[in-house]
Amino acid sequence: MQFLERLDDGSAVFGLVGLGYVGLPLAVEMAKAGHRVIGFDVSADKVAMVTTGASYIADVSTDELAGLVGRGLIEATTDFSRVAETDAVVICVPTPLDKTKAPDTSFMESAARSILPYLHADMLVTLESTTYPGTTEEVVQPILESTGLKVGTDLYLAFSPERVDPGNPVYKTRNTPKVVGGVTPLCTKLAVAMYSRFIDTVVPVSSTRAAEMTKLLENIFRCVNIALMNELLQVSDRMGINIWEVVDAAKTKPFGFMPFYPGPGLGGHCIPIDPFYLSWKAREFDFHTEFIELAGKVNENMPYYVVTRLMESLNTQRKSLYGAKVLLLGVAYKKDIDDLRESPAIRIAELIGGRGGDVSYHDPWVRDLVIGGKSVPHRELTAEGLSEIDAVVLITDHSNVDYESVVQYAPLVLDTRNALKSFDDGTVVRL
Ligand SMILES: NC(=O)c1ccc[n+]([C@@H]2O[C@H](COP(=O)([O-])OP(=O)(O)OC[C@H]3O[C@@H](n4cnc5c(N)ncnc54)[C@H](O)[C@@H]3O)[C@@H](O)[C@H]2O)c1
Repeated sequence: MQFLERLDDGSAVFGLVGLGYVGLPLAVEMAKAGHRVIGFDVSADKVAMVTTGASYIADVSTDELAGLVGRGLIEATTDFSRVAETDAVVICVPTPLDKTKAPDTSFMESAARSILPYLHADMLVTLESTTYPGTTEEVVQPILESTGLKVGTDLYLAFSPERVDPGNPVYKTRNTPKVVGGVTPLCTKLAVAMYSRFIDTVVPVSSTRAAEMTKLLENIFRCVNIALMNELLQVSDRMGINIWEVVDAAKTKPFGFMPFYPGPGLGGHCIPIDPFYLSWKAREFDFHTEFIELAGKVNENMPYYVVTRLMESLNTQRKSLYGAKVLLLGVAYKKDIDDLRESPAIRIAELIGGRGGDVSYHDPWVRDLVIGGKSVPHRELTAEGLSEIDAVVLITDHSNVDYESVVQYAPLVLDTRNALKSFDDGTVVRL
C-alpha cells in the first residue's frame, strides 16, 4: 500500500482541517515526528499567525511552533486545493449545539465538502470532532463518497476522538492514548498506523460508532458525577455538613471511589455540550437518556445557586445585591487556562447584573470580557480596589493569584472552589 509505505519512510504529508485547541497541538505532534503538515482553516487570522510561527493556544509554545514552521514542517493556508498534496486529512472543527440544543453538524459537513474536490485514491480521512454515534458513517461518509470514490476500497475513513485536556502539565497530545475506529477493518488499520507515528498508545475499537460513543461516555461520566456532587453540595449545606471535607475523606478509600468536586457550573466546549449529542440521537431509537437530562438540569442551576448564596451572604452584612459592587475572581472556565467558552462566570455575571449588581472581574489569563455586547471592567487586586468592593465571587481558582490579599482586604469572599480552605477568616464563605 502506497499510504503505508509513505508512512514508513516518513514522506506522508498530513492535512489538518481546523487549527484550534485540538488541531494545532496535533499538527505540532505530527511535525515533531518528522512529517510535513499543512493546516487548513477558514480563519485567515489563525492561518496568518501559524504562518509566522505565533501560537494562540496556551499548550503550544511559540518557540516550538516557530521552529517547526521555520523548518518547513508546518504550513497553514485557507486554500483547500492544497488538500491534493496530502496523504491523510484529520478534521477537528467545532461541534456546538444549536439554539434548541440539537447537534450543529454544519462545521463538519462544510469541512468535508471543502476537501471533496481534492480527495484522491488511497487517502485516509479521520474525524476528531466530538459527536453522536453514527456521524462518521451517516454524515461524513456520504459526502466523501459523492466523489464516486468508495470508502474501504478507494479511500479510508475513521473516527478518533480527541482527549486534549488544556493546561494539563502531564498528559499532552502525544502521551494521551488515542482510540480509533474505522468504517472497515482496513480503515482502522491505516488510521492506527497513522496515529502510531505521533501518539504513544493507539487503541483500536471495532467501529466508528464505538469510537464516537467512547468519547461521549468519558464526557457523560464527568458531567453526571459533577452533577451528583453539585446536588450533594446543596443538601450538605442545608444539613450543615462541609461537602469538600467529605470528598477529601471519601477519597482516602483506596478502591471503588473516584473524587469529583462541586462548583459554580460546567464550562468549556465539551462537558456542557457533548452529552446532549447523545440525548438527541437516542430519541431516534425511542430512548430518553434521563441521567444526562437530570445532570444537565442540576448543573445548569448552579450559577443560580451561586447567586442565591451571594445574596444570602451579602444579607448577613446588611447589604443587598442591588447596587453591590461584585468582583468575579477567575472567569476562564478552568484553572490556569484562558478559555472562556461556556464559562459559568458569564451566566453568573449576567444574573448578578440582572439583579442590579455592579460586576467587575480579575483574571490573570483573560484580558477582555465582553458580556451581552458590553465590556466588563477588569480590576487589579490592590488593597484599595479590594476594600472598595462589596463581595468577591471566586469562580476559577487560578494558581497565580494573591489570595492572601483578597482575603485580607475584601469584605466578603464567596469561594465556589474551596480554594481558600486554608484561610480561617470570617469573611470567606464556602459554596
Ligand atoms: N478544546 C478541547 O478541550 C477539546 C477536547 C476534546 C475534543 N474537542 C472537540 O474537538 C473539536 C474541535 O474543538 P476545538 O476546541 O479545537 O475548537 P476550536 O474552535 O478551538 O477550533 C476549531 C477550528 O476550526 C476552524 N473551522 C471551523 N470551520 C471550519 C471549516 N469548515 N474548515 C476549516 N476550519 C474550520 C475554526 O476557525 C477553528 O480554528 C470539537 O468537536 C470539540 O468538541 C475539544
